[in-house]
Amino acid sequence: MNTPESYLLPAYRTIGESLIRELAKLMSVPGMVSLAGGYPGTELFDRDGLRAAADNALASAPVACLQYGPTDGLPALREGIAGWMDEAGTRCSVDDILVTSGSQQGFDLLVRTLLRPGDMALVERPTYTGPLRLLKIAEVTTRTVGVDHDGLDVDELEAVLREAAKSQGPRPKLLYVVPTFANPSGATMPLARRLRLLELAVKFGVVVVEDDPYGRLRFHGDPQPHLLGLVDQIPGARDWVVHLGSFSKVIAPGLRTGWLIAAPAIRRACLIAKQLDDLSNPGFTQMTVARYLEAGRLRAHLPVILSAYRERSQAMREAIAAYLSPRVAVNVPEGGMFMWGRIRNGASARDLLKHAIDEKVTFVAGDIYYADQTDPATLRLSFSTPTPDQIRTGIVRIRQALDRLGPA
Ligand SMILES: Cc1ncc(COP(=O)(O)O)c(C=O)c1O
Repeated sequence: MNTPESYLLPAYRTIGESLIRELAKLMSVPGMVSLAGGYPGTELFDRDGLRAAADNALASAPVACLQYGPTDGLPALREGIAGWMDEAGTRCSVDDILVTSGSQQGFDLLVRTLLRPGDMALVERPTYTGPLRLLKIAEVTTRTVGVDHDGLDVDELEAVLREAAKSQGPRPKLLYVVPTFANPSGATMPLARRLRLLELAVKFGVVVVEDDPYGRLRFHGDPQPHLLGLVDQIPGARDWVVHLGSFSKVIAPGLRTGWLIAAPAIRRACLIAKQLDDLSNPGFTQMTVARYLEAGRLRAHLPVILSAYRERSQAMREAIAAYLSPRVAVNVPEGGMFMWGRIRNGASARDLLKHAIDEKVTFVAGDIYYADQTDPATLRLSFSTPTPDQIRTGIVRIRQALDRLGPA
């Protein structure tokens, strides 16, 4: 007998619950220290600034807040986004911007408009789980390209693209990459790699999706330009780069405000796909973010966030040096929210996590970030939500869990 469940598409029946959401449930256990979530620090939200912006939005533009609005976003917000990109050194026109419900929706729109089942996409190894799950659901064949301390390995990328060009099989149409403070590796690509990536995109005809939710969370070192900010240096590159931006990590994820910037044909297709999805982003939140930006509140508040993350990452670095270093190698980034580690003797981070939960600390086992060639000894440690004291406690507990796991 048929059941409603039997009608579900196979991909939706087989996909598991996300480990991160499972771990989030443990946050309510008393005394639990979470080094798992990729959430912004809760006490770092600029509540006063956002309240003022929301009041101003409703008072000054009630119709834009409450009426159906344009699918590509309120002009006031798109202007604010263009200004925010300009501050980071990337010039773009207001007309290039499509406001999305976070970067996550941006990638969904691209998958829906560019890829069909059996097509091939490339992702980093490791990479953020959102795109992995989306590509799986879309039945897109996913191949991976390795990552080192400097992000995507462009030599390996070239080899993969050359091999695919020679083969009879599908050629990669799209590469998803987080060039700055990647999730989960924390890695940032230097300029030379960025330029080489753009050259390869043009040469082999690959759409490069630059996902950049963390780029402005730099608390040490010098900024790197967006891939989108470099397109004029490589002939033809402008057509091949799609930029996904987000205010989730710098203002608040609850506002669900991100953006997509792409060449006109791709942007137009994404606009149609978005129209079918949700017509537009909510006017009220868009106008609130627009007023927040206009008032200069984000520029004023960002240093508060950066100073907290600088302190937290420092606490994590020191605790790792004191308690974990002999047993876990860790990549320390100059910004973002994550440190990426590997248990040196190759033991399973899933097994470690079980002991860690008993010790009342969570982190994310790294295996979920791989589409292939999984390294089960990897793990992601987040420093954005806990206080420095909680971070130290959490790292000591991970050390205790490692001791329970067995000798080095
Ligand atoms: C790399 C990356 N992209 C996108 C997102 C989701 O961003 P948004 O809230 O803008 O949808 C996250 C969230 O953790 C992320 O780590």
